[in-house]
Amino acid sequence: MKIIDLRSDTVTQPTKAMRKVIANAVVGDDVLGDDITVNNLQDRIARMFEMEAGLFMASGTMSNQIAIAIQTQPGTEIICDKNAHIYVYESAAPSIISGVQIKPLDCGDEIFNLEMLEKNISKWDDIHHAPTTLIAVENTNNKAGGIILSLEKLKGIKKIADKNNIPLHLDGARIWNAHISTGVSFKEYGKYFDTISVCFSKGLGAPVGSMLLGTKRHIEKALRKRKQLGGGMRQIGLLAAAVDYALNNNLEKMKDDHRHARYFAEEVNKISGFEINLKNVQSNIVIIKVGKDNAEKITNKLEKFGLKSLSLSDSIIRVVFHLHINDDDTEDAIKIFKKIKNI
Ligand SMILES: Cc1ncc(COP(=O)(O)O)c(C=O)c1O
Repeated sequence: MKIIDLRSDTVTQPTKAMRKVIANAVVGDDVLGDDITVNNLQDRIARMFEMEAGLFMASGTMSNQIAIAIQTQPGTEIICDKNAHIYVYESAAPSIISGVQIKPLDCGDEIFNLEMLEKNISKWDDIHHAPTTLIAVENTNNKAGGIILSLEKLKGIKKIADKNNIPLHLDGARIWNAHISTGVSFKEYGKYFDTISVCFSKGLGAPVGSMLLGTKRHIEKALRKRKQLGGGMRQIGLLAAAVDYALNNNLEKMKDDHRHARYFAEEVNKISGFEINLKNVQSNIVIIKVGKDNAEKITNKLEKFGLKSLSLSDSIIRVVFHLHINDDDTEDAIKIFKKIKNI
């Protein structure tokens, strides 16, 4: 049976062409600074975002957590949205690695209400509260369904951060999708943040890796932290070569993922029992409301017909479009949703 795997954009496999590039990569010991392929990639991505420097990381979680560790102090607090990956899906790492607490903002349907953000900043001279030492933004926002933060919103957040002298971190695991969808350049996104984390193993289709971007000083500190966490790796040019290939060949293909997500959402939203907020389908992720206590039943039924999806709660399932999903697969996915409706 054909399997259509829409659980995540992380499920892609390196293609033959990518594997060939990996096999031929020039590598060296990166802990000794000898790996030219990763050094070149770090320079390439730092230039793309007009940031001073970049450092290859094992994962998006490591990259976010190191960004937090180098910009905060124990006993202080980070502000982020209630849907942020660093809050929901990183297993309380900020409390363990950096000794900080997270203050998640619940802004209803909005991501980052500026008034709420400003009200929630705690100052050093207030001894009752943990001072805010970092604001973390996620673009696109995964849990909220691949929603994109507008430039206007980012400018507002930056203004508040600057006014209060607080650094801004971007979890840009899917900043590639935000760029493809809006046309906003990476350099423009780079202007608003002190540190940016980007992921290569999601929509870009590389097998492993993320990168932290920041000033040279941030990256010096990040290098030490990465070593302490056991993330100093040796011949990682193998991984960097795959990323280079992905940037050259797969970035533009995200347009197709977005087109598939939108078409799928419009069609499935017409089927009774599945509710999709089409306004929120802004990139490659689609969130489907399926009625209370139905999510697991539905993901199980879909799987029987060869469609893999994820249940995010008892009433919400998520599908994600990626490199391995073409027009026919998208049509087939819609057909499977139509079929299971009647079972
Ligand atoms: C927005 C966001 N940030 C960070 C991560 C963490 O990436 P990793 O799985 O590489 O640790 C993910 C993973 O899905 C994500 O969606």
